[in-house]
This record gives sequence, structure tokens and C-alpha cells, in this order.
Amino acid sequence: MATTATLAKAEEDRAAVTHAARIEHVSKSFGGPAGSQLVLDDISLDVAPGEFVTLLGASGCGKSTLLNLVAGLDRPSAGSIETPGGRPALMFQEHALFPWLTAGKNIELALRLRGVPKAERRPEAERLLELVRLGGSYRKRVHELSGGMRQRVALARALAQDSDLLLMDEPFAALDAITRDVLHDELTRIWRETKLSVLFVTHNVREAVRLAERVVLLSSRPGRIAREWTIGIPQPRRIEDAAVAELSVEITEELRGEIRRHGQH
Ligand SMILES: Nc1ncnc2c1ncn2[C@@H]1O[C@H](COP(=O)(O)OP(=O)(O)OP(=O)(O)O)[C@@H](O)[C@H]1O
Ligand SMILES: [Mg+2]
Repeated sequence: MATTATLAKAEEDRAAVTHAARIEHVSKSFGGPAGSQLVLDDISLDVAPGEFVTLLGASGCGKSTLLNLVAGLDRPSAGSIETPGGRPALMFQEHALFPWLTAGKNIELALRLRGVPKAERRPEAERLLELVRLGGSYRKRVHELSGGMRQRVALARALAQDSDLLLMDEPFAALDAITRDVLHDELTRIWRETKLSVLFVTHNVREAVRLAERVVLLSSRPGRIAREWTIGIPQPRRIEDAAVAELSVEITEELRGEIRRHGQH
């Protein structure tokens, strides 16, 4: 049984945690017949508890590779990654829902894997569906849902993992602009309500500025941190806000420079 002293110690440890993710001097190479390719070179980045960081970079610069390393799906070639809160939740561009299950059952599966007792799963799945504004869709099958609705279910399923760090890899890239805009609002609202830490990957500059407290720009070949911006524009923001547009122009210039420097596209 936990004593008062051990509980106090646990509390102290939690208070001492200054980061939801700590990436320290991480490099990653992939080996092939033509030799090894350095994809990420000496990346160091902290995500603070409750912080929303977007990782921005050209296609192929190593964004997904870095996210997979933070998720623990692969190991760095050098350096270290810590996620003190345990295994992060993940959300990809493809919803990856099980098509033979209903929206509700997809979420319940994540709850079951987390060890939530059976009797609590249904009400919790309903609560999460409400949170992503899909109340009443518990019994819907995946093919009955629009692309935007599927991503809402995928978000609810990621939230069902009850992790304090959410990793998102271009989760809205396949959606039309209006649906994406609505989901940006929802994500911002949910992030503020849940106080989650979010590491969000995108190659869309406006999306990065619209969502994040901090935008980190990766260079290409190899991926290195080129620059970062702290975004002081008050939330909630609109994608068409003048301040969002202005900063997006500045960041796009930098991104173009990075792409030119590395002679691709
Ligand atoms: N498992 C792997 N084996 C070998 N090479 C890989 C592997 N995964 C990624 N790469 C290479 O690493 C580089 C970065 O890929 P990654 O998918 O991380 O880029 P990205 O920034 O996510 O691009 P996009 O915006 O197109 O999704 C690419 O050159 C890719 O071919
Ligand atoms: Mg990618």
C-alpha cells in the first residue's frame, strides 16, 4: 500500500516533470543497398506539459520518422527520447479505424486495451463521442461516416488512450478546407479543455500557425531544426486572421529557402 511519504514523493516527481517529451541529440539513419541515409541529424526538442507544438517541413524531411521515434515505433540511431507520461497517443492521416466495428466499438477497443473495466467502456465511449461532437453516432459503422467524421472518431479513439501526449501526423491533410477548418477549431477546443500536450506534424504553414503555440521548422536532407517561432496570436484563431496570414508568409519564405538549399521539389 502506498504510504503518505511515497504519495508525497510521487507528487513531487510529477511536479518536477518539466516536459511531456524530451528529444535529445536524436539522429536517425536508414540503411539500404546504396549505403546508409542520414534522415534526422542531431534533433533536440522539448514539448512542455500542455504545450501545442507543430513540426513543419517539406515532404520527405523526416517529420513522420521523428514522430514514430517519439511514439516508440522505432529507435533512434543516436540520442535519446523521453516521454515521462508513458506511451503517447497517436493519430495519422489515415483514420485506421476497424471497418467492421461501429464508431463506439472502435473507441471501446482502445479503452479495453487501456484496462478500463467493461461496464465503464460504453459510457466513456459516449462521452468521448460527445467531446468530438459526434454524440448519437455510437452505432454508426465506419463506411456510414464522412471523412471528417472518421477523423473525429479517430481523435476520440486517440483520446481514449488517456495519454498526456498526443502525436498527430497530418491528421487533416486528406480533408477539404472547410472540414479541416472546423476540425482545427475542435482540436483547439479539446486541447484547451484537456490540457494535453500535442506534437503535430504538417507541411501546411497556415495550419501550423493556426494551431500551435510554437512552430518548429525542419530542414531537409538531413532533417535538422532550422528555426522556431513562438506564436503569440491569441486563441481561438481563424485561419484567415491577418496575423496568421502575415506570420505564414514569413515562415513560408524560410521553408522555401530550406527547400532551395537542399535542391529538391
Ligand atoms: N523505414 C524506412 N526505411 C528507409 N527509409 C525510410 C524509412 N522511413 C522513412 N524513410 C526515408 O526517410 C526520409 C524521411 O521520410 P518521412 O516519411 O519521415 O518524411 P516526411 O517529412 O514525413 O514526409 P511527408 O511530408 O511526405 O509525409 C525519406 O527519404 C524516406 O524515404
Ligand atoms: Mg510524413
